[in-house]
Amino acid sequence: MSDVRIGIIGGGLMGRELVGVCGRWDLLIDHPVRPRVVAVADPAPGARGWFERVPSVTTLTDDWRALVESDDIDVLYIAVPHDLHEEIYTAAARAGRDYLAEKPFGIDLAAAERIVAAIDASDAFVRVSSEFPFYPGAQRAYAYAASGALGDILDVRSGFWHSSDLNRAKPINWKRRSATCGAIGVMGDLGLHVAHLPLRLGWQPSSVYGRLDDVVTERPGPDGSAVPCDTWDNALLVCDTHPRSGGRDFTMLWETRRIAPGHSNTWYIDAVGMDGGVQFSTRQPTLLRRFRVAGGEQAWEETQPGNVSSWPVVSGAIFEFGFGDALLQMWASYLAERVGALGDRFGTATPAEALESHRVFAAALRSWQTQAPARP
Ligand SMILES: NC(=O)c1ccc[n+]([C@@H]2O[C@H](COP(=O)([O-])OP(=O)(O)OC[C@H]3O[C@@H](n4cnc5c(N)ncnc54)[C@H](O)[C@@H]3O)[C@@H](O)[C@H]2O)c1
Repeated sequence: MSDVRIGIIGGGLMGRELVGVCGRWDLLIDHPVRPRVVAVADPAPGARGWFERVPSVTTLTDDWRALVESDDIDVLYIAVPHDLHEEIYTAAARAGRDYLAEKPFGIDLAAAERIVAAIDASDAFVRVSSEFPFYPGAQRAYAYAASGALGDILDVRSGFWHSSDLNRAKPINWKRRSATCGAIGVMGDLGLHVAHLPLRLGWQPSSVYGRLDDVVTERPGPDGSAVPCDTWDNALLVCDTHPRSGGRDFTMLWETRRIAPGHSNTWYIDAVGMDGGVQFSTRQPTLLRRFRVAGGEQAWEETQPGNVSSWPVVSGAIFEFGFGDALLQMWASYLAERVGALGDRFGTATPAEALESHRVFAAALRSWQTQAPARP
């Protein structure tokens, strides 16, 4: 098992999550590599200070360029505000650095196009963070849909509902400002999570109608007085969809909500066709529902997917799977693919998939502005 030295650019919420992933790495059975975080770049002293507790971290700096240029780092994890994606992702690609980048992969479509062009012109191995498809139930749902068991597809719904912004008194931050989050708002925050499995299944939106909602328009600023909160909180995308494998076009809904009362962090996918259907939600991670038409009967089947994941773990197969497990599986997938050891397992989202999702989000924004469907 070879060591992989990781440098984190952006030591906030997601940067810290990676420390948890590395700490649990020994749960994985027979993985080809072992990551450890050795360096962190973040201009915020408080963010850097948190990493002083991590024994493997030997470099703490306020300058991300120091990590991009370092020969003592094998892989970068870049988890910074969206307005910084383009500059750092393109610089890392030009330096030939392998990295896992956070979504949405550029603040808008034009930035995503320039990032992908820089990657295509480099030897860097780059993937994009999207962990929910690594839930065992989601993997089984994906495999069932990919097998053709659904027959002619009629209806697909893919969504992410959380309520991080239900509290109107929550102070403003970069995620709630268009200038730093992006004009696509919640679609930039949650959209790739919703798009990843459908795009991997070859379900290609050909036309989009976007319904966008800015629910909370002001939030407390640094001094407590109200400042504009000008990002879209919720978005519903109604997509005419063409299956790349052939067959009839169908309707697909992509739903992203930061304000979904009654939900905390619910990611789901539902798909139904003439011969079968599948439903999985992280709200009930121990349950996978599959439907099939057999012998003239419509039959639903409930399976308990347990903790049987792409990368087997020493934990009991019956234990519940959670967010931290999904991140562990995603990193296992990324680092294995990087060394050619992915095999036929599910791969992390690609730059091409992130770019495709941006095309759909940009079309949804145009559609809402013109009140007419738009082509991605
Ligand atoms: N995959 C997921 O489930 C998931 C969840 C949340 C956020 N994200 C994504 O991760 C990224 C970061 O989000 P977060 O929630 O960690 O945000 P965060 O605000 O918690 O952390 C961002 C960090 O970036 C640092 N930063 C700012 N400018 C920097 C610079 N020039 N160089 C280096 N660091 C800099 C900030 O100081 C902060 O510590 C975003 O792209 C976001 O969309 C992904």
